[in-house]
Amino acid sequence: MFDLLALLADGGFHSGSDLGDKLGISRAAVWKRLQRITKDLGVPVQSVQGKGYRLVQPLALLRHDAIQCAFPMLPVFIYGSIESTNDQAKHLLSNNAAPLVVFAEHQTLGKGRRGRQWVSPFAQNLYLSYVWPVTEGLNQIDGLSLVVGLVVLKAIKRISGIDAQLKWPNDILIDERKVAGILLELIGDPVELCHVVIGIGVNLNMLDSFVGIDQEWTSLNKETGSNIDRELFAKIVLEELGGYLEKQKKYGFHRMRAEWLSAHAWQGRNAVLHTGNDFVTGQIVGIGDKGEICLLVDGQECKYLGGELSLRLQNDT
Ligand code: BTN
Repeated sequence: MFDLLALLADGGFHSGSDLGDKLGISRAAVWKRLQRITKDLGVPVQSVQGKGYRLVQPLALLRHDAIQCAFPMLPVFIYGSIESTNDQAKHLLSNNAAPLVVFAEHQTLGKGRRGRQWVSPFAQNLYLSYVWPVTEGLNQIDGLSLVVGLVVLKAIKRISGIDAQLKWPNDILIDERKVAGILLELIGDPVELCHVVIGIGVNLNMLDSFVGIDQEWTSLNKETGSNIDRELFAKIVLEELGGYLEKQKKYGFHRMRAEWLSAHAWQGRNAVLHTGNDFVTGQIVGIGDKGEICLLVDGQECKYLGGELSLRLQNDT
């Protein structure tokens, strides 16, 4: 199916027999694959009598060679359609050394935080998982999810000029609408060598016609009105990730805390923290050394940390 998509990616008309000849398959087999492209990947194909088939919208697919050449020391894996890049990264780790990076054009079971689904339409956004070995003890990952937020923020600024904002712990917002999310998963034995899978999803070219997202969202294309070069964005993210992870390993999150706070969307606002069993109301006053959210609750500063926590603004702020 992906070899056929690559032939159609230019958006021009291609006859069934021409496509069949190039792929060494019958016209009927071409037609079957076209059905799957529409049904499984949600990519619309137009068929015009006498002209052939074409994609309703041309596609620029991520090219393995282009990304691998830019990062020769980092094993790069790119898939057409998989369940989740985070899960695939974990499988790959059984036969490959980290660091490594996995991209997908489409995720059928993209995972968000707190058991949510991450909507992942074909060839429109960025879905990436980077596996980072934890070699310096678990302190190495204190505040890491916030640092990855800075990576995405910087990459967005470089590709679009937009100053996005950060919502604790690691949502990236533009005018209060979510444009990117981060999901970290720790794997292995914390007393032996373990790894952290850094999953990043950024809405790049997804437009309004896309339904099924249960929160306010945006994409860089919606914000700028122009198509985003996904491959260039992928390279920028990897470049920034390399720099920030080095800083994190050397100095820890506290060296980047001021930078994080300068883009903090809700600093000083009143918020409600959902801890699973409980709700805590307070004023957001900052971020701790390990990336904890600091709330002023009944005149006392309290720190909270954990991937399952979620923060909402209190209605009156
Ligand atoms: C969130 O809920 O905000 C986190 C979203 C993380 C989505 C990314 S997309 C690439 C990687 N693979 C996944 O299955 N999830 C992460």
